[in-house]
Amino acid sequence: MSNVLDIRNLELGFKGYVGFTKVLHGISLSIAKGERVALVGESGSGKSVTARIILGLLQELRAARITGELHFNGQDLNHLSRRQWHALRGTDMSMIFQDPTSSLNPVFTVANQFAEVLRRREEKLTDSEARARASELLDSVHIPNPARVLDSYPFQLSGGMNQRVVIAMALANHPSLLIADEPGTALDVTVQAQTLKLMREMVESNDTAVLFISHNLGVVREFADRIYVIYRGNIVEEGPTEAVFANPGHAYTRALMSAVPRITGGGIPDIADTSDAFLDPLVSHSENKS
Ligand SMILES: Nc1ncnc2c1ncn2[C@@H]1O[C@H](COP(=O)(O)OP(=O)(O)OP(=O)(O)O)[C@@H](O)[C@H]1O
Ligand SMILES: [Mg+2]
Repeated sequence: MSNVLDIRNLELGFKGYVGFTKVLHGISLSIAKGERVALVGESGSGKSVTARIILGLLQELRAARITGELHFNGQDLNHLSRRQWHALRGTDMSMIFQDPTSSLNPVFTVANQFAEVLRRREEKLTDSEARARASELLDSVHIPNPARVLDSYPFQLSGGMNQRVVIAMALANHPSLLIADEPGTALDVTVQAQTLKLMREMVESNDTAVLFISHNLGVVREFADRIYVIYRGNIVEEGPTEAVFANPGHAYTRALMSAVPRITGGGIPDIADTSDAFLDPLVSHSENKS
């Protein structure tokens, strides 16, 4: 079995003061090595809770009741200790969330944060080795002046720049699975489109599997090989992206699609074509004009 992730019959409920609320009703989902899979559905359908279960975060919540099978690279996740979950996150499994600035620690420089991430995999990495690696990583996400960015605090960088830092960090340890929950939706749409294109380049060259969570079907169509549609805690449709778009089987999928504004031409802009949007307060115009 070569799947990176296998989820079978996952159920989730929350125990509250007024009783028990069921949120996931037995969902099954798998992702092959290097595959980009989207989980789409309306707000409250259960996308983020699914991501948080895969990351082992919801298991720490006392009110959460979780059952079902979870396998990651053949390993049964239900038997991991807290410490083992902790070791897995940020190494073989990593994540990108909606708002890049909240994923970065405001009181440490980018260089410090890279060193911390890289040392999760290689404990003995020296400061200068970590810095050299971080610089290469920033270069791979088309950051024009890595040295300057490394010495900056997140608040000194634009949202788009922070998002590129977050992508580089999430892939720094060559995870086999990246979970991206509405990545960049807190950003301006053109910046979001560029960073998504960048993310796709990066995961393609690293052969990283991705669980891409979104309720934007236009973005999903550009990004994903395969789609799962979740509706009120149930997977109601699954298939290759183009097949689902060509022939949506479920009424809810059709409704979701009819809600997408039609864009003619265009698509995601080329990184090379959008130099203007790459202008950053931190990077002076003369540097950008090279
Ligand atoms: N800690 C919690 N306690 C109780 N209910 C919760 C908790 N976390 C999430 N829920 C409920 O679980 C359901 C699914 O939430 P989830 O965050 O997964 O939605 P989502 O699909 O990610 O939506 P969105 O698109 O708005 O991000 C919601 O009804 C939510 O209220
Ligand atoms: Mg969510």
